[in-house]
Amino acid sequence: MFTLIPQLVIGSADLAAAFLFLFGLQRMSSPATALSGISMAGIGMVAAVLASFLYVFSVSDAARPHLMTNVALALIALALGGGLAWWSGRKVAMTAMPEMVALYNGMGGGAAAAVAAVELFGTRTSGTTLGVALLGALIGAVSMSGSLIAWAKLSGILSKPLRVKGQQIANAAVMLVTLAVGGAIIFATLSGAPLLLPTSSWIYIFFGCALLFGVLMTLPIGGADMPVVISIYNALTGLAVGLGGFVLQNPALMIAGMVVGAAGLLLTLLMAKAMNRSVANVVFTNFGEGAKHAARTIKGSLRPVAASDAGIAMRYAAKVIIVPGYGLAAAQGQQKLYEFVKLLQAAGVSVRFAIHPVAGRMPGQMDVLLAEAGVPYDMIFQLEDINDDFATADAALVIGANDVVNPAARTDKSSPIFGMPILNVDKANQVFVVKRGEGKGYAGIQNALFYGDNCNMVYGDAQAVLVQMIEAVRGLGAAAA
Ligand code: TAP
Repeated sequence: MFTLIPQLVIGSADLAAAFLFLFGLQRMSSPATALSGISMAGIGMVAAVLASFLYVFSVSDAARPHLMTNVALALIALALGGGLAWWSGRKVAMTAMPEMVALYNGMGGGAAAAVAAVELFGTRTSGTTLGVALLGALIGAVSMSGSLIAWAKLSGILSKPLRVKGQQIANAAVMLVTLAVGGAIIFATLSGAPLLLPTSSWIYIFFGCALLFGVLMTLPIGGADMPVVISIYNALTGLAVGLGGFVLQNPALMIAGMVVGAAGLLLTLLMAKAMNRSVANVVFTNFGEGAKHAARTIKGSLRPVAASDAGIAMRYAAKVIIVPGYGLAAAQGQQKLYEFVKLLQAAGVSVRFAIHPVAGRMPGQMDVLLAEAGVPYDMIFQLEDINDDFATADAALVIGANDVVNPAARTDKSSPIFGMPILNVDKANQVFVVKRGEGKGYAGIQNALFYGDNCNMVYGDAQAVLVQMIEAVRGLGAAAA
């Protein structure tokens, strides 16, 4: 009776947590509801964690003292992990988000692998549980070491992709050895007859091989492809957590893992589709390599214009569309951008934002950036909803974006971005491009848009340029008064 009540509460809390995860995820599909969606999923997680502590009261009196040590350890881990996450989450810059996601994802994979390790080193009930634990251990360990390499690449600790001849064969060999060791563990455990080494040694070798595979698989991939790679590892971590949930017979963990796994998989596919590349192309090729030789050379000259002139031209336009890109995030110019937009609106200009699905360096980065500055959601449009409107826009302001507005994607078959859907900025009557100089975008190629007759370059850091534009438009108002 006394053990039944905690079990009922744990079951109900798990169910509530699972519902909150799903409902929260559904709300994350729109920027307007995303914040409440994140809070809901967070509350679900708190409910699931608190319910786990009730487990202590659902066991017999004899087993409880042993569990109390685990409770103390769990509380210390929660305080340390929660404190670190709170501190780092508050101080992280928007542009450093991909690194942080990589690091947290690695920890998720590591936690799933640790759950599997407890099962593998402990007593297990069936061959199925053993098989699931091994699979969870493999996926979790690969995800952990791979995510850590992704983190090191994004934060600049590892700057160059590490490629050697025959690398993929070596990777395949490491995976085969890992699977063979897994087979040895299953055989030794089920038959009760250790193969050459004690079973625990095989388990250590298994983890070593899986971790090595994650490292080897990620090292050759270019730093700029890391967001997609992290998304792949995110899907794998979710799967490993779900398998851990099966091993622990914990429905909340199973559902949370599967939700993360499915979301990560969908995100990976969407990102690959938006770049017109396959996931295999991301993992197995060096994107942008040789692009300089492959893509067509562009004839013509660039026409620089002063920031103040560009600002004033937009002040007298009727319809302006703004395309933010990675450079806006790098310059942290979002607040100034919205300040400039409000001045244009006050002068009666219709202003909208056009967002490319892979603008910036992580999914949704531009939406988050604009939301951070307080831009209303009804001013923000996704590519498919606004692309036709560039043809009727008086001016397009491209701010720190490059690849996502490169017409070569439509016309140049030799370009690495050929086939990628782009924003039709070149169709606007007048185009202003804000960037610091002749720097290329992530794909490392030139941009024909910049050489177009309707295009002017406004050179400078995005934030500094916006300050000058604001001053120029304000100056007009002051002069008129
Ligand atoms: P990019 O093509 O990378 O171009 C960014 C431009 O910003 C550069 O040309 C750079 O030129 C300029 N810039 C940099 N810092 C600046 C600053 N402080 N002020 C003003 N300008 C600055 O960016 P994009 O158009 O957003 O395209 C994103 C690219 O990343 C795509 O190729 C996409 O496939 C790739 N990618 C995206 C994702 C996700 S999920 N978003 C994931 C992986 C890859 P200067 O150096 O001359 O200033």
